Amino acid sequence: MIIELPGLPAVQALGERIAANLRAGDVVALSGGLGAGKTTLARAIIAALGYSGEVPSPTFTIIETYDRPAVRIPLVHADFYRLETPQEVEELGLDEYREGAVLIAEWPENAGGFEREPGCLSIRLEVADGARKAVVETGTDWVGRQP
Ligand SMILES: Nc1ncnc2c1ncn2[C@@H]1O[C@H](COP(=O)(O)OP(=O)(O)O)[C@@H](O)[C@H]1O
Ligand SMILES: [Mg+2]
Repeated sequence: MIIELPGLPAVQALGERIAANLRAGDVVALSGGLGAGKTTLARAIIAALGYSGEVPSPTFTIIETYDRPAVRIPLVHADFYRLETPQEVEELGLDEYREGAVLIAEWPENAGGFEREPGCLSIRLEVADGARKAVVETGTDWVGRQP
């Protein structure tokens, strides 16, 4: 499925549709190059889950967590850009962070990828000739709740 994202309101609307369908255990895997709009979409999802504060980019901390009651579902926002091997994911303790939570992952391929998980919503953000779009693929758990 391809979703055109002509501007920030379209990103916000997509974030709202994703947030409305999220369940604990899901992964939203956001791929695409630097500046493709991964953090912008992550922020839209986190805001739509109820968070009203500033959402820092986890570029340097790698992992940022959000808990109830500030968000409707506990959430982990990760940016794996700086990982050099997927083994480092274990050292970060990602599995513990993910318990009962949603994971929003930027640079998911650096963590070994999550598309084998049935709860994975894979979104590839693309920019071509100034036009932006999202290419969406869903795991089997997403049947009937595609954004
Ligand atoms: N659909 C869009 N339309 C217009 N500008 C966008 C869109 N998505 C993101 N941007 C802008 O692009 C810039 C980079 O976005 P960002 O989310 O930080 O990228 P990434 O996390 O993929 O590196 C930001 O200034 C953001 O406001
Ligand atoms: Mg980013």
